[in-house]
Amino acid sequence: MSADSQKRRAAAAALEHVTNGMTLGIGSGSTAKHLVELLGEKVRAGLTVLGIPTSEETRRLATEAGIDLVEPDEMTRIDLVIDGADEVDPDLNLIKGGGGAHLREKIIAAAGQRMIVIADKSKKVAQLGKFPLPVEIERFSWPLTVQAIRKALAENDLKSATLKLRPGARDAGGGVYLTDSNNYIADIQCTRIADPAALDAALRAIPGVIETGLFVGIADLAIFGTDRGVETLGA
Ligand code: A5P
Repeated sequence: MSADSQKRRAAAAALEHVTNGMTLGIGSGSTAKHLVELLGEKVRAGLTVLGIPTSEETRRLATEAGIDLVEPDEMTRIDLVIDGADEVDPDLNLIKGGGGAHLREKIIAAAGQRMIVIADKSKKVAQLGKFPLPVEIERFSWPLTVQAIRKALAENDLKSATLKLRPGARDAGGGVYLTDSNNYIADIQCTRIADPAALDAALRAIPGVIETGLFVGIADLAIFGTDRGVETLGA
């Protein structure tokens, strides 16, 4: 079975946790795209939910799917957040942001009463760090921020980590990727992250760092699609 079918399976299983009247944070990425499609089917069959999209792309897909959306500055309570991940460790710590949406995803996930991660089984890892860690940074004087990040990496036992500014087509000027909030992303190849909470705190303490893709202590349950069905981690 393809990774894409596993993603759809995970999304379908997560939707079993969605009940009538919920306010639902809707993640971004290829797994969340399955979630939006399947949620749209349920909405057309009579389910009532209010969605909060975590990216402009998800907003577009959810609107197309006929899901009612609330504006972020209107919301008071988020019952459940369902989102994908790039890596999930045994403690339910995550790397997110491969799609560049982790700032909004983290704001919504941290505010949610509960977060369910959906992924194909390849995202389950023993230790975070093989997937490059995305860090959203302010464009103003970004080389200074990058310099401070390198210093923090060295101080956190990650001297050999490498950092690249994410390339992309959205910044017409320099071919640098621009997030929905018009910031840059630095992708950090760490190889292994021994202490995700300490690294997250060290990076977030740097002026110019807006948000990291490390989600520590936020997810409650992970659902991995497999060839046979789904596997879960957490409750
Ligand atoms: C978006 O910025 C990301 O955080 C995604 O949730 C993450 O990259 C997982 O994406 P896929 O579902 O496409 O693997």
